Amino acid sequence: MIEAAKRYIENLFAGDSGGHDAAHTLRVYRNAMRLADALPDCDRETVALAALLHDADDPKLFKTENLANARAFLASQNADPARIEAVCRIIDGVSFSKNGLAPPTTLEGRIVQDADRLDALGAVGIARTFAYGGAHGRTLDESVKHFHEKLLHLADGLNTSPARELARERHEFLLQFLRQYEEETR
Ligand code: NI
Repeated sequence: MIEAAKRYIENLFAGDSGGHDAAHTLRVYRNAMRLADALPDCDRETVALAALLHDADDPKLFKTENLANARAFLASQNADPARIEAVCRIIDGVSFSKNGLAPPTTLEGRIVQDADRLDALGAVGIARTFAYGGAHGRTLDESVKHFHEKLLHLADGLNTSPARELARERHEFLLQFLRQYEEETR
C-alpha cells in the first residue's frame, strides 16, 4: 500500500512547482520514517501513509472536501476503516494554518507534523521559500521576511526529541543564511 501511495502522490502532484510537490512529500515520508525508527512505540504503517498523503488535499492545491483525495486512495486499497480514520485525523492535525502550534494528540500525528516541519528548515527550507515566493511574484526581501515570521519559530514547536535533534543543524543553517544575506544586502 505504501508503494501504491508513492505512485498516487507522484501522479497527483505532477506539474506543481510551488514547493508542495511530490519531492516534498517523499522527503517528509523519509523524515517520518527516521523519526519512527527512533520512536518504536508508533504504528509505522499509519505514520507512513499519513506522511505520504499529508498534502494530498492541501487547499492551496486542491479543491477537495473532507480529505477526498486521501480517502479515495485509501478506499481504493481496501484499507481498514479504523486505519483510514487514524490517517485522516493525522492529516487534519498536521496543517499549520488550521492548528497553529497546537500539538497533535497521537504519537503518530506528532511524528508526521514534525517530519513536515523539518522540511521547512535547513537548505531545503531556504530553497522552498524562494521557490514558493517566485511562484507567487514575491521579491527576495519579501521571501526573507517569511523566515522571520514563520521558519525561525518552527524548531521551538517540534513535538518529539529526535526531531528536535535533527532540527538543530537545520535551524543553525537558516540563521547562518540570514546573517550572510543581510551582510550582502545591507
Ligand atoms: Ni507538507
